[in-house]
Amino acid sequence: MESKYKKILITGASSGIGRQMALDYGRGGASLWLLARSEQKLHELAEEIRSAGGQSHILVCDATLEPVLLGALQFAQASSGGFDLVIANAGWGGKMKYPGENNIIVLNQIVDLNLKAATQTLEFFAKFMVEAGHGHLVGITSVAGFRGLPGGAAYSATKAGLITYLESLRFSLQSFGVKVTDIRPGFIRTPMTDQNKVPMPFLMDVEPASAKIIRAIERGRKRFSFPWQMAVFVHLLKALPDFMYDWLAAKSFGDIAASGRKGKSEANTSN
Ligand SMILES: NC(=O)c1ccc[n+]([C@@H]2O[C@H](COP(=O)([O-])OP(=O)(O)OC[C@H]3O[C@@H](n4cnc5c(N)ncnc54)[C@H](OP(=O)(O)O)[C@@H]3O)[C@@H](O)[C@H]2O)c1
Repeated sequence: MESKYKKILITGASSGIGRQMALDYGRGGASLWLLARSEQKLHELAEEIRSAGGQSHILVCDATLEPVLLGALQFAQASSGGFDLVIANAGWGGKMKYPGENNIIVLNQIVDLNLKAATQTLEFFAKFMVEAGHGHLVGITSVAGFRGLPGGAAYSATKAGLITYLESLRFSLQSFGVKVTDIRPGFIRTPMTDQNKVPMPFLMDVEPASAKIIRAIERGRKRFSFPWQMAVFVHLLKALPDFMYDWLAAKSFGDIAASGRKGKSEANTSN
């Protein structure tokens, strides 16, 4: 599908949702800047995009290292001449256990990636887009940001924080002609969810998920929660009184509520 966006930066492009969006935008003829830590995977993706007729540039970078991230973003801004679309997608589900030895390490990694790196990326490009008088900033949050998930304290908190940040940012930037979109996926089949032991209702494959995200971005949606069944479900969950939510969480998540979320991204497993 041809996109109205011609120059696009995606963080967390080496796997899952970010990778699929990069492929889809690349096939549509956009020029892409792809950021992640896994150099080999980025090269393979860039090759796939090239074979499909697209163009891409890779940015090998650990987004949790602020000077390294800002250096990579500065390089991308200078070499691209400015982006029409920036998607802050990189994120980690983390694994926290109680009692646990590494919870603070995991917590810091989740906060540094899901909240700090995402907001730093968006803030970095907001300045250039405001000066240019156009552009579109997108954050990939989660329905997990609607309520605290059992075993996912840090993950839910960072996604809730990013949801609120995106809403505020939208108000700040709209008079400058810069759009802001908050994408809130439910469960999508990616390396992050592959090892989940918790129930994953309405699990969706990454290809239709990417197509839905791209459609929402193209339409300039302010926020988009999907799949729709999950969106309805989490809005109901949000409205539930605490005693009912606690009962449902214990029933659905069982001992995960005590022992932690199991999802993990390949390179973060050492935690
Ligand atoms: N899958 C789901 O069900 C689901 C649901 C709701 C929201 N989300 C959100 O969607 C986004 C993408 O998730 P996904 O499911 O596609 O996960 P994924 O397949 O694990 O991909 C995560 C991406 O983030 C990158 N990343 C991780 N740590 C990084 C770091 N320190 N610096 C730079 N890049 C880093 C990874 O690349 P490297 O390892 O190469 O760095 C990878 O490209 C995340 O924000 C996630 O929270 C996912």
